[in-house]
Amino acid sequence: MPLSHNNHRRTLTQFLIEERRRFPGASGDFNALILDVAIACKAIARAVAFGELGGVMGNHAAEEGGSVNVQGETQKKLDVLSNEVFIRRTEWAGNLAGMASEEMDVPYQIPGQYPRGKYLLVFDPLDGSSNIDVNVSVGSIFSVLRAPKDLDDMPRDQQRDVTEADFFQPGAKQVAAGYALYGPTTMLVLTVGDGVNGFTLDPTLGEFMLTHPHIQIPVDTHEFAINASNARFWEAPVKRYVDECLAGKPGPRAKDFNMRWIASMVAEAHRILMRGGVFLYPRDTKDATKPGRLRLLYEANPIGMIMEQAGGRASTGEVPMLGVQPTSLHQRIGLVFGSKNEVERIERYHADPVKHELDNPLFAERSLFRS
Ligand code: AHG
Ligand code: MN
Ligand code: MN
Repeated sequence: MPLSHNNHRRTLTQFLIEERRRFPGASGDFNALILDVAIACKAIARAVAFGELGGVMGNHAAEEGGSVNVQGETQKKLDVLSNEVFIRRTEWAGNLAGMASEEMDVPYQIPGQYPRGKYLLVFDPLDGSSNIDVNVSVGSIFSVLRAPKDLDDMPRDQQRDVTEADFFQPGAKQVAAGYALYGPTTMLVLTVGDGVNGFTLDPTLGEFMLTHPHIQIPVDTHEFAINASNARFWEAPVKRYVDECLAGKPGPRAKDFNMRWIASMVAEAHRILMRGGVFLYPRDTKDATKPGRLRLLYEANPIGMIMEQAGGRASTGEVPMLGVQPTSLHQRIGLVFGSKNEVERIERYHADPVKHELDNPLFAERSLFRS
């Protein structure tokens, strides 16, 4: 298809303006915020694309202000840079009351010289950052919440600071969620609660163009994603599910499955949006202090909203992800998402694990994950 075909495509800006026409009373703040987030993502895409040439590979040096984040993870230079880009591109405009991020222990307060607005922005500035140095896809994930009312009732100089508790809203309350994927092409995938749309960055125009309208996830799949090195720590329902997939055609599922693990959740989410599949990073027994690997507020909730808006499903394994009441900013949680029928099956296995374990011949001595 010739490139000139793209003249007919809608830009992200056009898409947002046309969406807003459906809400004549809307102030435009929300659109302005999303466009600022999009600029942040473009800046991060550029930094990622320059790779070694940009001098941004490797770990963040301790002498430059620390190298371990609140989760006890080593920060990459690009984690820190991406966090900074998100802040600088969004703090000034008067759309935000505060922000929270994987890379900041506590909420970020909008500096006094800028007006504050009615939204909260929560983000994972760079997801999959263990993949940066090996040139595998990474991305940014973001979630937009409404700030509590009392925050914008007051004149600016009398407003209280945002607190952690202001962010403790279940995923169902998200106003919007999205991610950018820095892969062979850069894409922005966005939901404002009315389906999911995908935009591809035209690097010469510097614009995100609507290339994937109304994304729908196939309800069935024969592809799953899980870090199998954790198998010995999985709970029975997860073991059962994976065993049944691995058993393939002769097994209880009567079909062969394919397995993928990129170790960038955002890239797995995108693959699943495009062609179906199921992703599991379940709660396990590896570390009693960590109920799961991924974080509720800036990983599970935004990806969960996108999945549900695309006709998929997101769950803790036991309950719908978007109903979970957060209790801390960096809370971890078991996460299962993707093709609806598959996620529902995993939820059924959790609902009655004992019965299923007894019923399941794979849990006898020939279990594939049993030593
Ligand atoms: P982050 O880079 O933001 O810390 O997130 C990494 C996450 C996620 O992207 C991925 O699915 C998972 O960690 C990878 O876990 P393993 O190291 O167990 O493969
Ligand atoms: Mn992440
Ligand atoms: Mn991250």
